[in-house]
Amino acid sequence: MGDENIKVVVRCRPLNSREIARGANRLISMVGNQTFITRPDVNDPGNANKRDGIEDVKSFTFDKSYWSFDKNDPNYATQAMLYNDLGEEFLDYAFEGYNTCIFAYGQTSAGKSYSMMGYGEDKGIMPLTCCELFNRINNNKDLELTYQVQVSYIEIYNERVRDLLNPKNKGNLKVREHPALGPYVEDLSKLIVNSFIDIEKLMDESNKVRTVAATNMNETSGRSHAVFTLLVTQKRHDTQTNMDTEKVSRISFVDLAGSERANLTGATGTRLKEGVNINKSLTTFGKVIASLAEFSVDKKKGKKEVFVPYRDSVCYFHLIYC
Ligand SMILES: Nc1ncnc2c1ncn2[C@@H]1O[C@H](COP(=O)(O)OP(=O)(O)OP(=O)(O)O)[C@@H](O)[C@H]1O
Ligand SMILES: [Mg+2]
Repeated sequence: MGDENIKVVVRCRPLNSREIARGANRLISMVGNQTFITRPDVNDPGNANKRDGIEDVKSFTFDKSYWSFDKNDPNYATQAMLYNDLGEEFLDYAFEGYNTCIFAYGQTSAGKSYSMMGYGEDKGIMPLTCCELFNRINNNKDLELTYQVQVSYIEIYNERVRDLLNPKNKGNLKVREHPALGPYVEDLSKLIVNSFIDIEKLMDESNKVRTVAATNMNETSGRSHAVFTLLVTQKRHDTQTNMDTEKVSRISFVDLAGSERANLTGATGTRLKEGVNINKSLTTFGKVIASLAEFSVDKKKGKKEVFVPYRDSVCYFHLIYC
């Protein structure tokens, strides 16, 4: 993105059983922050799709390329490495009072939920960040400083917002705009948590209620976007003046729906509607990020008028503003 406020990293997961059964080859390699993709037909002279004049290997540069292809490889990028590079930084910003947001984007089975939430003991960046947040809070020795942590967890499915911390609330929560604070989700539960164990319990319960519908492609694939938000309030009491000050910051973790859902062929009825809505939100996502990048370039040049289409999809109206 070329902007110091936005980082883009990529992670390569191991081949899954379906790919292994199909005899798939490894096409990705990574060195430092670079990712290389080898043309699939490069070693197959008989391949009818082979076209001359096309590079055999394409290279892409990201802020970081995480190599998680083989767990037995000494270079395997672990969950802890991702957390150390990204989660730590979010916490630093949160304690300074800044809002941060992380998205996982990719097609179904790419490893979005694995990197964000993790499976079982293989905890992802969300739980690792929450755990360290409480470690830092518990290490606070400043008697004038107290902390409050609240969490919210929503699912956006077919442009409808659902409260995962209050599944009884089946309705479609409304996204509204506060004149001073910007967009917010009306009636959203924000639960106070006092420990990482509290958060773990909430995550476990709410993950069970996430909308997952069986599809031909991946039985357990996420067809909705999920947004988990940590709201950290730091309260400082000045004993001399007897004044209280507050610093509030937000960390949002977003596990997006599989990107290929957007243009699945042969889908009809509900699946088609899902595809259309996922497409709408992911296209808006692309447009919003592109305009933000343009905005930051223009700002450096002294121009400010760039339209950022947050409102084109309910997700980004809520999210990126934060
Ligand atoms: N970095 C990794 N290392 C090891 N295994 C991984 C890694 N990333 C993903 N996997 C495995 O790949 C499978 C698919 O990953 P995951 O469920 O995270 O995909 P997803 O992108 O969330 O898909 P969907 O869009 O369908 O929700 C899981 O079994 C997961 O354990
Ligand atoms: Mg998933």
